[in-house]
Amino acid sequence: MAITLRPTIAEIRLSAVRRNLQKLKEISAPARVLFVVKANAYGHGAAALARLAEREGLAWGFGVSSVEEGLALRGSGITSPVLVLGSLYPFESFVEAINADLMVTIASLDAARQVIEAARRLGKKAVCHIKLETGMGRIGARKPSVLKIYDELTASGAVSVAGLYTHLSSADTDPEYTAEQLGFFRETSAALGERGARGLTFHAANSCAAVNIPASRLGMVRCGIAAYGLADGFEPAMSLKTRVVFLKNVREGAFISYNKSFRADRPMRIATIPAGYADGYIRRFSNKADVLIGGRRCRVLGNVTMDMTMVDVTAVKDAAVGSEAVLLGRQGREEITAAELAAMADTITYEIVTLISGRVPRVYVE
Ligand SMILES: Cc1ncc(COP(=O)(O)O)c(C=O)c1O
Repeated sequence: MAITLRPTIAEIRLSAVRRNLQKLKEISAPARVLFVVKANAYGHGAAALARLAEREGLAWGFGVSSVEEGLALRGSGITSPVLVLGSLYPFESFVEAINADLMVTIASLDAARQVIEAARRLGKKAVCHIKLETGMGRIGARKPSVLKIYDELTASGAVSVAGLYTHLSSADTDPEYTAEQLGFFRETSAALGERGARGLTFHAANSCAAVNIPASRLGMVRCGIAAYGLADGFEPAMSLKTRVVFLKNVREGAFISYNKSFRADRPMRIATIPAGYADGYIRRFSNKADVLIGGRRCRVLGNVTMDMTMVDVTAVKDAAVGSEAVLLGRQGREEITAAELAAMADTITYEIVTLISGRVPRVYVE
């Protein structure tokens, strides 16, 4: 195991993830829950969280973005269904996916023909979900192509079609558009039914839809962000923590960080913490974000640098080298939320947690 001495860590509360998944399961039942753990579980660590969910029966299966992510889950012992949500290219990816029992997304006739060929070559049945385009404008086939894809896949005898799905682009902002997307989806599911399709799992909902739009739940919901606690009514699982490594007093007029990006307007006490943009604590937080030290909000001073950030601890009388600094999460009665950081950086909470980089150890606590 790699040695870790630098105190910067992402602490993941398993109890929060457990409660969030339990809640999603209850809200969505009888629909199944596909726990979306792509992008290393939005930065939370896919292996650890998938193991937790599998061990405790908190999800039916897992959603990943690529074959590589699916193989990593298999490598960490996950045996539950895994659906690769991305469109696969190069087409050799199908061989790897089928070998590892990963279900693949088929979003074009071209891909359908390639998965048939891969399954035949391997002599092993592939399992796929067809992706319908209803208004996300990313990947997906329109209704006539979906019917053709379904016919070719089933006629081949080499591929089993386990599901049909679509992705809602605006479940959190535009109920009318969402209803329209769901309408298109129902039309295509019905058309497949008329062709004799039986036993398919239909799915459309992401977290927001699963929680707020009962009609979107269908046979399965695909949830990421709520499981990590970054949706209303759920518990945030990740905290980003470190410790003060250096302290100094400065005079009025002293400059702090690159390009003199902060100038002290009074005598101040300043802490340096070992976290910077290489950890995913982005430069947009310069002179804006707060860090919790001694239970108080302390402003970031000057530009966030690659590995270190300076913070005003003038008001924290007992700040010392070694004091805990919380960049995301709670300390005492204060809390820095991902939503607060996201607003500051003109982005979404997904990006804040997903950007926490690979060099930050993930530490799991109950
Ligand atoms: C196809 C697909 N389904 C489900 C999800 C999960 O969305 P959320 O994290 O909003 O629950 C995503 C994530 O972006 C996705 O791309």
